[in-house]
Amino acid sequence: MDHITLGRSDLRVSRICLGSMTFGEQNAEADAHSQLDYALERGINFIDTAEMYPVMPRAETQGSTERHIGSWLKKSGQRDKVVLATKVAGPNPHMHWIRGGQHNLDEANIRAAVEASLRRLQTDHIDLYQLHWPSRNLPIFGASVFDPQKERPSVAIEDTLAALGKLQEEGKIRHIGVSNESCWGVTEFIKQAEMKGLPRIATIQNLYNLTARHFETSLLDETCYRAEVSLLAYSPLAFGQLTAKYHDNPKAHGRLTIFPPNWSPRYVRPGVLEAVGHYAKLARANGMTPAQLALAWCYTRWFVASTIIGATTLAQLKENIDAYSLRLPPDMVAAVDAIHARLMNPGQ
Ligand SMILES: NC(=O)c1ccc[n+]([C@@H]2O[C@H](COP(=O)([O-])OP(=O)(O)OC[C@H]3O[C@@H](n4cnc5c(N)ncnc54)[C@H](OP(=O)(O)O)[C@@H]3O)[C@@H](O)[C@H]2O)c1
Repeated sequence: MDHITLGRSDLRVSRICLGSMTFGEQNAEADAHSQLDYALERGINFIDTAEMYPVMPRAETQGSTERHIGSWLKKSGQRDKVVLATKVAGPNPHMHWIRGGQHNLDEANIRAAVEASLRRLQTDHIDLYQLHWPSRNLPIFGASVFDPQKERPSVAIEDTLAALGKLQEEGKIRHIGVSNESCWGVTEFIKQAEMKGLPRIATIQNLYNLTARHFETSLLDETCYRAEVSLLAYSPLAFGQLTAKYHDNPKAHGRLTIFPPNWSPRYVRPGVLEAVGHYAKLARANGMTPAQLALAWCYTRWFVASTIIGATTLAQLKENIDAYSLRLPPDMVAAVDAIHARLMNPGQ
């Protein structure tokens, strides 16, 4: 497994990061521990979680994912072997179970979130602390058009950075990152940090997969390259769609058939299924599984520092890590780009 340095930080992480949002909803604590053990055996040292996990988010389960990771850290004694990333939830009135739904990115909320995560994770510091989604109005989670009518009061980026700076000084967090951010956001975070001597973001955690390549077409690739902000690509299999299991059998068991159909509509649009059909055909014609093609694609893009993979079972995790050794020949890359040119970003 190769490793890479994140942004201008001193964090050295594996090119695959173990995502965790299945832990505590789609699988149990023992499964989480087996996945963590296995990932470390395979050279992965990077774990991503969030205060709101597991997904799908519910009052009854919130925090279980961090608790399962925390019990593993304690049991395994491997805290110093891993780079631990978690996130504070941005504003969302539907998630009233997180600080009464008032979880905006101000000092009081961020401090409360960090302290609760540290308790659940059974550690005294978080290596990478990320803002799960912005405080301000921005099209995210499947919305793609900026709408000024949706403007709302938000916490100034400078104030959020100042709050994070205090937690850094106290040693509770080491480095910071953003998630579900835009070019404007990245630029503003860097500008405020440099102008006011506040912490500098090292990473951006955004959606990136064969059906959602917005990172390349929105100038985020150039912005992050010049700003030295590393991309952590999430949902590389588009919630499992890119394995083609739902294409082959619409009733296949998995997240997209067990969660409510309207919960994550971006992954079930007709254009996604059409694109998946073409990518699956290309993969199989070249002796790969559709999942291998989709993951090898993310693993080998120059701007992806680390790909955050997710798995329900150990067998899925193994297939996904094994795909790291695959390289796509130039004619396959060209064929992928040809499909993308016809069916651009249906899952964005
Ligand atoms: N910042 C954010 O807003 C954000 C958003 C999403 C995710 N993330 C992070 O990114 C991580 C990965 O995201 P993701 O879970 O959406 O990734 P993904 O790779 O798009 O989907 C993973 C899911 O696909 C299915 N799957 C995976 N490998 C498979 C295989 N080999 N064969 C068949 N099915 C397979 C499994 O679900 P089933 O068993 O249900 O089919 C698995 O849980 C998360 O854990 C989280 O840490 C962050």
